[in-house]
Amino acid sequence: MPSFGGVRLSDEESTLKVSKIKDGTVIDHITPGKALAVLKLLGIEGSEGNVVSVVMNVASKKMGKKDVIKIENRELTKEEVSKISLISPRATINIIRGFKVVKKTKVEIPDYIEGVIKCANPVCITNSKEPLIPKFRVISKNPVVLRCLYCKRYTTEEDILKQFEVLK
Ligand code: CTP
Ligand code: ZN
Repeated sequence: MPSFGGVRLSDEESTLKVSKIKDGTVIDHITPGKALAVLKLLGIEGSEGNVVSVVMNVASKKMGKKDVIKIENRELTKEEVSKISLISPRATINIIRGFKVVKKTKVEIPDYIEGVIKCANPVCITNSKEPLIPKFRVISKNPVVLRCLYCKRYTTEEDILKQFEVLK
């Protein structure tokens, strides 16, 4: 049994970083260090009033380290889940209802993406003063490369991560 400052803790107490949630979504197995980028992509700023828990760089059997986000009272749309895959291809989405995991899905990189991701070409019509909604065909999944349907230019994994960087 581990001990901290003379206090003996069970394994559960020493590894459980945030409490279980009653209803909502747990995004698990996020690439370590990318939780804040995932929050930004989802547009979660905290002002919505939901309880949101974030842990970063915790030990994971499967990945060595991982980030985890728990969002109470919110379930994600298919489009949101598919966009998480661009930042964190190994993430698992757990839907929680009444404290139980009622659905577990792995994110999957889609073949087509609309909205949220910006075209890397600054003069693309999707970045103009009267912008059109960006639309991309996914032409490579590892590494991620998107091709804009309007200007035909490429947007890379690095370009996407830059868009959702939180701290510089
Ligand atoms: N979880 C939670 N609240 C609940 C139920 C589960 O926050 N009421 C969290 C767990 O802490 C875990 C994730 O949701 O981070 C998935 O839960 P579960 O499927 O029970 O865990 P594992 O079997 O370890 O998941 P996996 O096989 O996907 O690694
Ligand atoms: Zn473009």
